[in-house]
Amino acid sequence: MTEMTIDPRALRDAFGAFPTGVTVVTTRDAEGRPIGFTANSFTSVSLDPPMLLVCLARTSRNFATMTGTHRFAVNVLSENQKDVSNTFARPVEDRFAAVSWSDAPSGAPVFDDVAAWFDCALDSVLEAGDHVILLGRITAFGNSGRNGLGYARGGYFTPRLAGRAVSAASEGQLDVGAVVERNGDILLIGDETLSLPACEVLDGDPATALIGHLEEVTGLSITVGFLYSVFEDKAGGRQHIVYRAFASDGVPRSGAFHAPASLGGRTFDTASTEDIVNRFALESSIGNFGVYVGDESAGRVHAISMKGA
Ligand SMILES: Cc1cc2nc3c(=O)[nH]c(=O)nc-3n(C[C@H](O)[C@H](O)[C@H](O)COP(=O)(O)O)c2cc1C
Repeated sequence: MTEMTIDPRALRDAFGAFPTGVTVVTTRDAEGRPIGFTANSFTSVSLDPPMLLVCLARTSRNFATMTGTHRFAVNVLSENQKDVSNTFARPVEDRFAAVSWSDAPSGAPVFDDVAAWFDCALDSVLEAGDHVILLGRITAFGNSGRNGLGYARGGYFTPRLAGRAVSAASEGQLDVGAVVERNGDILLIGDETLSLPACEVLDGDPATALIGHLEEVTGLSITVGFLYSVFEDKAGGRQHIVYRAFASDGVPRSGAFHAPASLGGRTFDTASTEDIVNRFALESSIGNFGVYVGDESAGRVHAISMKGA
């Protein structure tokens, strides 16, 4: 039997189909300085004795400290902590400047406003290919009842954002559109002036209406993913929902796929489209997608900076 050749990039994408929460694992180094990194490989392991695990890449700058420590904490991020997740995933000088935190009983940092936290004694470090498994024995924990932050296919999702989409769908006139991706490129309609594919939804489920519209416009098969943006165009009195979507191979009937980096200086139909395309360009460069909620001028973008490493 011939073995399948595994493409690591494709494998990572397939792993990304499994929705997870997001944690930040923390400890202190030999000088007592707090260190921490974002991890979605957290898994509960055992109730008796109480145990959990998290996988750490061998490439981590803090590999020696994390595997040599006796104590660590796992912070389960809440739905408003996307920026914390991004900070602890990037090579930021002082990651802890971005959060309010205090000491768990072990001295490992625990953040304010997390969904839950676990203080652990390091039980063992198990070899696991290009990662190690940190197996922790839980010595203390807290559970705030806040919703956890979700992560799947390189994007964050939150229960509250899904709720906003539902209420947007029930309030007034609704446009639903998509950032349609294929191999990192984005589908835009038009030659001189570029727009996102979108349609008006009069009734029914917005995502179902969107798939029908996108398949008709492109002639391709479309999968709709998580929400990308929910905003209100106050001037036009319309609600807008933008999803991420993924297109099959083939030449689209209308529009064309563009590399995000090639779109500088192009003209867009609205400032909102331009913002969304710029965000897509930035976020696709670090493989990490944020979520925008607000109106067309004063929304809250969970800003994500470029990953330097
Ligand atoms: C949502 C998300 C989940 C991540 N999960 C893990 C993980 O489980 N294990 C890991 O080693 N890195 C993970 N990373 C990558 C690290 O957070 C990132 O490489 C970080 O820069 C490591 O920091 P360090 O080198 O200071 O340890 C994840 C990143 C993101 C954005």
